[in-house]
Amino acid sequence: MNGMPYQPLIAPSILSADFARLDREIERIPSADWIHVDVMDGHFVPNLSFGAPVAKAVGRVTDKPMDCHLMIEDPARWVRDYVDAGAVNVTFHVEATDDPRGVADLLHSAGCRAGISVKPGTAVEPYFDLLEHVDLVLVMSVEPGFGGQAFMPEVLDKVRSLRAEIDRRGLDVLIQIDGGIDASTIGECAAAGCDVFVAGSAVYGAPDPDAMVETLRARALDARA
Ligand code: DX5
Ligand code: ZN
Repeated sequence: MNGMPYQPLIAPSILSADFARLDREIERIPSADWIHVDVMDGHFVPNLSFGAPVAKAVGRVTDKPMDCHLMIEDPARWVRDYVDAGAVNVTFHVEATDDPRGVADLLHSAGCRAGISVKPGTAVEPYFDLLEHVDLVLVMSVEPGFGGQAFMPEVLDKVRSLRAEIDRRGLDVLIQIDGGIDASTIGECAAAGCDVFVAGSAVYGAPDPDAMVETLRARALDARA
């Protein structure tokens, strides 16, 4: 790793929040580092969540970095809407485009950070040549589409492989993990090399969501110490 102190970032997913009161749901997690916004189109994944108008509304009610995770087909057509909504990072799936480099370049030219994501069954090594062109790699630890699923520990081999490659090349690329992250699974993810942790049901299902954000961060720090 690069000698800087390890700073795990906790990104609660509003997919598990009460959609009727998103402003208040975001106010309940002042300790969050990023706000994770899960966009699903009913085609790339078998579920529909919300789109750019809701992301825009979220962007208006928080100063925290908004991290949009696009589980949609044809991301090149839509990424600009999420930049305009105020996203600091937009992540799209490599399985959804023939030209991930082009989509990343589009985001960068719009002044936004770019992330690529891989589903559990997608190998990450074929995308190593993209690492110079992205800011983040999201390793899905459940099949994308729904919150509340069980963590798939087998994806941690991909995290370890990515961590080694990023460090070997001295790149400034964050590794994010998403799906089934809670107080019992975050430690092994941190130890494997993850930097950014998405948690939906663990945070919004907790009696005190903000205390859970703090717990998750502490567990990640402990596991890496
Ligand atoms: C799943 C989404 C996740 C989801 C995580 O397709 O990308 O961000 O909200 O939910 P939990 O933390 O409940 O697995
Ligand atoms: Zn997500």
